[in-house]
Amino acid sequence: MTRLHRRTFLVGGLAAAGAPLIGATPANALAYPFTLGVASGEPTADGFVLWTRLAPRPLNADGLGGMPNTPVTVEWQVGLDQAFSQLAASGSATAVQTSAHTVHVEVAGLQPDREYWYRFRADGHISQVGRARTAPALGSGSALTMAFASCAHYETGYYTAYRRMAEDRPDLILHLGDYIYEGAAATGRVRTHSPSAEITNLANYRVRHALYKMDVDLQAAHAAAPWLVVWDDHEVENNYANLVRQEGQAPAGDFRARREAAYRAYYEHMPLRSAQAPVRENMQLYRRVNWGGLATFHMLDTRQYRSDQACGDGSQNCPDADAPTRSLTGNAQEQWLLDGMGQKFGTWDILGQQVFFAQRLAADGKRSMDAWDGYTANRKRIQDGWQARGNTSTVVLTGDVHRSWAANLMNNYTTQDKVIGTELVTTSISSDGDGDASHTGVTPTNPHVKFYKNLRGYVRTSITPTRMNVDYRAVDKVSVRDMPVKTVQSYVIEAGNPGLQAP
Ligand SMILES: [Fe+2]
Repeated sequence: MTRLHRRTFLVGGLAAAGAPLIGATPANALAYPFTLGVASGEPTADGFVLWTRLAPRPLNADGLGGMPNTPVTVEWQVGLDQAFSQLAASGSATAVQTSAHTVHVEVAGLQPDREYWYRFRADGHISQVGRARTAPALGSGSALTMAFASCAHYETGYYTAYRRMAEDRPDLILHLGDYIYEGAAATGRVRTHSPSAEITNLANYRVRHALYKMDVDLQAAHAAAPWLVVWDDHEVENNYANLVRQEGQAPAGDFRARREAAYRAYYEHMPLRSAQAPVRENMQLYRRVNWGGLATFHMLDTRQYRSDQACGDGSQNCPDADAPTRSLTGNAQEQWLLDGMGQKFGTWDILGQQVFFAQRLAADGKRSMDAWDGYTANRKRIQDGWQARGNTSTVVLTGDVHRSWAANLMNNYTTQDKVIGTELVTTSISSDGDGDASHTGVTPTNPHVKFYKNLRGYVRTSITPTRMNVDYRAVDKVSVRDMPVKTVQSYVIEAGNPGLQAP
């Protein structure tokens, strides 16, 4: 956009960052609506998604954020600099009540491999400024700083790890699930869920998402970099599988309707493209994002299509878990993943997914039925598939378990035959509260598992065409605000030479 165009915006009342809002701004009908911050996501070589929601009263029980039932025009700007002295793109979108006045803008036509800033305006109010980034063009790209996180139970701790992640100023952030938790408010915790009951309908999912997004540390992480998000179970209901709900304690009701409400609220509150918009209780969340010639992100959905957990879920010694018909991904996603791993647009194949990938046996031989250990034939087909395609720079990223782990992926876990990939498991942002040093998860039953730590935090990676530097970042407590972060473990992974190495 030209300077002339920017001038038109200014006459319309949009002040430059830092300048006082005087004169041209009309009287506001709405109270300040950008209470949930701003976000970007889904970077390509020429654009990204911009997100915000108008919600002057974000915790209103009807889930409508205190907005009237009228469409509101939301203007947006993408600047070449933080002061918006030159615009790269601008436009407007209409926020409507049927989507809780959320805004998803798919910006295109930008330059590859560069930083941008963005902001919104509605009813004379101006949002916070966010930083976004385009990916390099296919065939190029020399360095990427990527951080990933999961599991941010609001009640069990402050989001200091999100804040520290933002301060690292990564180019890209991956969130691997449990972005919200569906449970009722509990007593004696660091802070309290709203609504207070377990959420099961659209209004309540919207209020819960709003509560989480009111957190300023989470807002800082969204404003720092574009995100790629995938869900796990708690965005809907603990340990659900496809349309099979958790056994036992789940509230009564139609699970199909609950999943529809949860998926809809998730889409509304995330910086996703319209290609991901849900249709009733279905949502196409697995997708690929290319980071030039450097990396391909295969973002997986291990909830929506999975076979029900074997032997009643939990930790089991369960031969059924090895049945060839069982699948965590579903057949279509498995084939899509292997097709994508055969494309080799990027040096690194990075699987952004939820549950523990490597075999992990307890001392008594039991394994988690909710993780890949409960779907071993599916895991073996995928591992064999990437070996058959000659992929030697595969890194699996994992969340879910609220602990930091690192593992070598083996062609055969029983015989410990050759390393074929690497798994990095991030701990939680806050789930399970303050950590401890009381036990180690690294045991002789799993020789390929190299690292375990029970502190809250995230993982930071720095990726080049020849190596990936990995830092496990942790805070000592999440029951106290503003703790410093430290690196508790580092590894190097070499391109073409799978497995963890000392830095
Ligand atoms: Fe979790």
